[in-house]
Amino acid sequence: MCGIIGYSGPLEAGKLLLNGLAGLEYRGYDSAGIAYFDGQSKIRVVKKVGKVAALRECAAKLGDVSHCGIGHTRWATHGGVTQENAHPHRFGRITLIHNGIIENYHQLTVEYGLEGRLVSQTDTEVAAGVLDAIYSQCGGDPMAALKAFEARLKGSYGFCILFEDHPGEIYALRNVSPLVAAYTPSGALIASDLTALISYTREYFVVPEHHIVRLTPYKVRLYDMDGNKVAPEMMEVSWNMDAAMKNGFPHFMLKEIHEQPEALKNTILPRLAKGLPDFTDDGIPDRIFADCGRVHIIACGTAMHAGMVARALMEPLLRIPVAVSIASEFRYEQPLVDAQTLVIVISQSGETIDTLAAMRLAQGLGSPALAVVNVKGSTIARESDYVLYTHAGPEIAVASTKAYSVQLAALYMICCRMGMVRGKLDQGGAKAFMGDLLDAVPAMEAMIQKKDQVRNLVTHLINAPDAFFIGRGLDYAFSLEGALKLKEISYIHSEAYAAGELKHGTIALISDRVPVIAIATQDKIFAKTVSNVREVRARGAFVILLAKESARVEEDIADIQIRIPDLADQFTVFPIAAVLQLIAYYASVGKDLDVDQPRNLAKSVTVE
Ligand code: F6R
Repeated sequence: MCGIIGYSGPLEAGKLLLNGLAGLEYRGYDSAGIAYFDGQSKIRVVKKVGKVAALRECAAKLGDVSHCGIGHTRWATHGGVTQENAHPHRFGRITLIHNGIIENYHQLTVEYGLEGRLVSQTDTEVAAGVLDAIYSQCGGDPMAALKAFEARLKGSYGFCILFEDHPGEIYALRNVSPLVAAYTPSGALIASDLTALISYTREYFVVPEHHIVRLTPYKVRLYDMDGNKVAPEMMEVSWNMDAAMKNGFPHFMLKEIHEQPEALKNTILPRLAKGLPDFTDDGIPDRIFADCGRVHIIACGTAMHAGMVARALMEPLLRIPVAVSIASEFRYEQPLVDAQTLVIVISQSGETIDTLAAMRLAQGLGSPALAVVNVKGSTIARESDYVLYTHAGPEIAVASTKAYSVQLAALYMICCRMGMVRGKLDQGGAKAFMGDLLDAVPAMEAMIQKKDQVRNLVTHLINAPDAFFIGRGLDYAFSLEGALKLKEISYIHSEAYAAGELKHGTIALISDRVPVIAIATQDKIFAKTVSNVREVRARGAFVILLAKESARVEEDIADIQIRIPDLADQFTVFPIAAVLQLIAYYASVGKDLDVDQPRNLAKSVTVE
């Protein structure tokens, strides 16, 4: 989603902003722009549809030297992908960039007489027009203007603002849309996420909602809306620069697939005490596991698929109802959650607006919220009642891989702890569970090492118009993620289907042009899934079967078989996830697509 960077200090701002925007490219965008005070303290705006490289070329031609400016990558929401709609937007004495959506922009346009005076179709330009009017009413006082401006806004926003008559200064304001800021030896910096800051500092703070930040070449100051100075809560980056570089891999996605075994260990091992899961250091009390009568998991996309796996794992083990909701649906379906419902919210970024809103709704209904989050200090992490951080490090590729596997690891540990607390697992059982979880790590590693096997099979996929992923029980939950991965980066239409359900209609779509990836790792229902494989094969499908090493089945049951190491049934998701991710990865590479930044997608979805 949109990216923001702002800088004031001794370095050349243009170069720094463009490098910062390049660091934010992974979030997904369709246009980019910068605005800065030039040598004469006049504001110059440069923007361009397309990649940051095009903007860089354009900016270089101007040859300006600046020490203060703001930069933005835009992911279109209001208004198409055009140069006019790209940020920064300028109106009167105001130049600004914005992440989020101003919901009452239409009302504000009318109220402030902006009709016919705007050059773009964006809510952001309306915001610039409103702030310009308010700034004049406030006698050119930025702090007073921002307070009055914020009182007029409905929606989500992270703004960075240049006031024409305050050269060298950047003001920022936020509600929902995240901003982080730092004062560094190289100057004052603000950005929508840490990847833009880490080359300059390890210390930063998350800009609190409804606060104003003022950056000058010498300081970063935080104020409440009444203009009182507030001491920021400083945090330290817990990963190093290498984590955000490709380090010799052709794509971030492949690198992140390879990082999974390490990320899993980082997430699991610090929480093991004598071989048992222990959340004391996370401040998560056993009480929340003991007291609940049911569990409700809420998330979006891949994170929701991790929740689907957790449901299939938890319900049989804990013998309590476990529901999973898509966050954007949960919000509007009058959910049945209460104080006896443990709500588990899953989010890599911790900023997904639907997940955040769903969590707030559940908390309002009395449910304690336990968040499984990767980004430290993110809004969901801060607002949840309890947080279990995953330790994947930064995930740069838009398609989630390592964040998914560490979410699973965290959920497996929660399940194990709940089992202990609720008397469903004795010490020996819990130790065995955790032993099985740890065994899944080298099993996943082994499949990543066998990546060439997957690379060779994608020739059977890349020309297919459609593909199906089928499985039963846990295997079905795994297949949901397999289908999402393939469609989002290879653009091959793919669907996950419960294998037994196909014949109730969807089998009509199976033909010799449709590959089927069948996942059959659950011993108890293996034979049943194999029957479904026979059904699709009989209709001409090209079948790729994923099964355990020891599974006995005729050689010619499938066109290709990929065997994973033998693990207890509940734990096969880890090696299977690696295979499914690699299938999607090599299909995207085979089609010569932009693996890390697929079309239309954004990394952190901060709009509804
Ligand atoms: C797909 C993907 C998305 C995210 C979803 C939720 O590869 O990454 O489906 O999982 O947008 O994002 P988070 O986890 O940040 O809430």
